[in-house]
Amino acid sequence: MRVDPVELAVVLAALAPPGIVTGARLITPDDLDGLRVEERAAVANAVPGRRHEFASGRTLLRELLGTSEAILVGPTRAPLLPPGVVGSLAHDELVVVAAVSRDPSVKSLGIDVEPTDPLAAEMARVILRDDERELDAHLAFALKEAAYKAWSTGGGRMLGHHEVRLSVDGSWFTATVLPDERQLRGRYATVAGRHLALVIVP
Ligand SMILES: CC(C)(COP(=O)(O)OP(=O)(O)OC[C@H]1O[C@@H](n2cnc3c(N)ncnc32)[C@H](O)[C@@H]1OP(=O)(O)O)[C@@H](O)C(=O)NCCC(=O)NCCS
Repeated sequence: MRVDPVELAVVLAALAPPGIVTGARLITPDDLDGLRVEERAAVANAVPGRRHEFASGRTLLRELLGTSEAILVGPTRAPLLPPGVVGSLAHDELVVVAAVSRDPSVKSLGIDVEPTDPLAAEMARVILRDDERELDAHLAFALKEAAYKAWSTGGGRMLGHHEVRLSVDGSWFTATVLPDERQLRGRYATVAGRHLALVIVP
């Protein structure tokens, strides 16, 4: 299926409040040439598809930040962004999406993109809590992954899907991380066969 990254970028931008810059880009092997020397080591032994998504992700982040600097991989695997910048990145098999902010009032961001195809019942049970059964499992997966990325910024252990409870209201959602009772707010949209989710921690 062909994807128009501009269509995704427009929808993402509409999800983001002022002060948060978002973007979308097709994954292409051409972006490998733009990888900085320090970044190449991170994917030197990876399969081609992984190298391509990593390179397009770095290209998109550099575009959004207006920088030419290397963006290394942090200890949690999240990108190591320049001082004063928060951001998040996600990809599927065709596109990469990202959000960044230099606004000091934004503490962390989390983004995800997932296909809209339905998940098998067994997988849905892994993702959905009993009190979330009315939600589409693949959408819930996207919302929880975006919430996890925002929550785990600066450290943070692995969370199980059932440790996060979703409540959805129109295009808004709240993800409650049950172990520490933190509530994360986000927005989502469905476009071009994909769920896009963006969580902003003020
Ligand atoms: C972090 C995680 C959510 C990434 O998801 P993914 O399916 O591998 O891939 P995505 O395309 O959505 O995101 C990948 C990008 O997320 C970023 N990322 C990776 N680990 C991260 C972390 N711990 N925190 C924030 N961002 C992270 C990276 O930028 C990565 O892309 P890159 O390696 O090319 O730079 C997932 O791998 C993970 O560790 N999950 C465990 C926790 C969890 O999901 N619990 C259930 C939901 S609460």
